[in-house]
Amino acid sequence: MRVLLAAALGVALAGCADMSAPVADAPFDAPDAPELPATPLSYVITGVPSALLNDPVVRLIDPPDNPITNAGATLGRVLFYDRRLSRDGTVSCASCHHQSASFTDTARVSRGVGGALGERNSMSIVNIAWVPTLQPAGQPRFLWDTRATSLEHQVLMAIENPHEMAMAPDSLAARLSAVAWYPALFEQAFGSRAITTDRIAKAIVQFERSMVSTRSRHDSAQAVSFTTLTPLETEGRRLFNDGSRLNCASCHAGPQFQNSVPVNIGLDATTTDRGVGAVTGLPQDDGRFRVPKLRNIAVTGPYMHDGRFATLEQVLQFYSQRIQPHPNLAAQLRAPGGLPRRPNYTPEEIAALIAYLRTLTDHAFLTDERFSDPFRRR
Ligand code: HEC
Ligand code: HEC
Repeated sequence: MRVLLAAALGVALAGCADMSAPVADAPFDAPDAPELPATPLSYVITGVPSALLNDPVVRLIDPPDNPITNAGATLGRVLFYDRRLSRDGTVSCASCHHQSASFTDTARVSRGVGGALGERNSMSIVNIAWVPTLQPAGQPRFLWDTRATSLEHQVLMAIENPHEMAMAPDSLAARLSAVAWYPALFEQAFGSRAITTDRIAKAIVQFERSMVSTRSRHDSAQAVSFTTLTPLETEGRRLFNDGSRLNCASCHAGPQFQNSVPVNIGLDATTTDRGVGAVTGLPQDDGRFRVPKLRNIAVTGPYMHDGRFATLEQVLQFYSQRIQPHPNLAAQLRAPGGLPRRPNYTPEEIAALIAYLRTLTDHAFLTDERFSDPFRRR
C-alpha cells in the first residue's frame, strides 16, 4: 500500500521541476520511516576529559539559543541521513560525510545533486562543538576558507549549494511537513509540530555538536602522561613537537590538534585556490586555509582542502621535502632566510609520525550507534 501510494505521488509530481514550488512529498523513491529506539539515545555532552575542557586553542560551546537535547539531536540524526533534503532525493548530508570516515568523504571532491562535482574535499565533523576562534574578533568560523560564521548558517549553505543538495530551504520545510512521521519528531524536539527552516537547521546542528570523540588511544594516553604509547608512537610524538625540525604542534595545537589562525602551508608556489583570500579580498590571505583537526586523521583521506594527497605517507613526504615558496608561506614553515623548511624525515621517522597520528583514531566514535543511519537498509 505504502509503495503504491508513493508511486502515485511520484507520477503526480513528476512534472514538478520548479525548485521553489512546494511539493507534497519527494517526487522520488524516498526512504521509509526511520527506526528509532522507544527511549531516545543520550546526546547531551557529558564526561569530557579535563584536557579537552581546558583546551587553550578552542572552546566548547553549547549555545543557550540552541542547546543539545536528546529529542533535538535525534531529529537531527534523521534529517542528516534523509535524502529528502536534496532537490532530487539522491543526496543526504551523509552522502559526503560518512561515519566510518569520521564524517568525511572518501572521494577527492564530493558529488552533489545530479553528479555535480564540488571543488573542495569534505571536512570531518568531529568535536565540532569546540570552535576555533579567530583573533581578534573571537568569532567562530567554519569551512576550509572560514566563510561560514555559524553552524546553523553552514547547514543552510549546504542545503542550498548547487554542488551539494540544490534545495530551496522553504520548499524543504513544505516537503517535510507532508511526510507523515516528521511533525511528531519536530514536536518532541521543539514543542510543536511546526516545521521551519530554522528548526531544521537547529536540529541538525544539535546532532553535529553531539558528535564528540574522546575515546581515542591518544585521549587515554594523555590522561597518564603518554606512558601507554609504544616506543614508535612516542618517537612520533617527539617529532610532532620538535621545533628544530618542523613543529607540527605549533599549528595542529592542543588536544584537538587545530588552531584558529588560517595559514598557507606552501602546497603550491603560486595560488591555485585563493581560500581565505577570496573571502577577505586580501592578497596576503591567498592560499590560506583553516588548520584542520587531526582527530581520526588516519581514516579521513584524501587529505588537504582539495584532497590532493591520498595517503598520510604522501602528506608527510610533502612536509618533509616539498613545501613550496609561496609568498604567503607561514613563518613556521620557513627556514632562517625565508626559504621553505626541509625537515628531511627518514622513512623510519615518517613511520613514527604516522604511528603517532594513528593513536588519534577513536573506533568507538566511528561505530557509535547514536550517529549511525536510522533508515532501514533495503
Ligand atoms: C555534496 C557533498 C556534501 C553534502 C551533500 C554535504 N556536505 Fe558538508 N561539506 C562538504 C564539503 C566539500 C565541505 C568543505 C567545503 C568547503 O570548505 O568549501 C563540507 C563542510 C562541512 C562542514 C564544515 C566543517 C568545519 O569544520 O568547518 C560541516 C559542519 C558540514 N559540511 C555539514 C554538512 C551538513 C549538516 C550537510 C547536510 C545538510 C552537509 N554537510 C552536506 C560536502 C558536502
Ligand atoms: C604552519 C602551520 C602548520 C604546520 C606547522 C603543520 N601543519 Fe599540517 N596543516 C596545516 C593546514 C593549514 C592544513 C590544511 C592546508 C590545506 O588544505 O590547504 C594542514 C593539513 C594537514 C593534514 C591534512 C588534514 C586533512 O584533514 O586533510 C595533515 C595530516 C597534517 N596537516 C599533518 C601535519 C604534520 C604531521 C605536521 C608536521 C610535520 C604539520 N601538519 C605541520 C597547517 C600546518
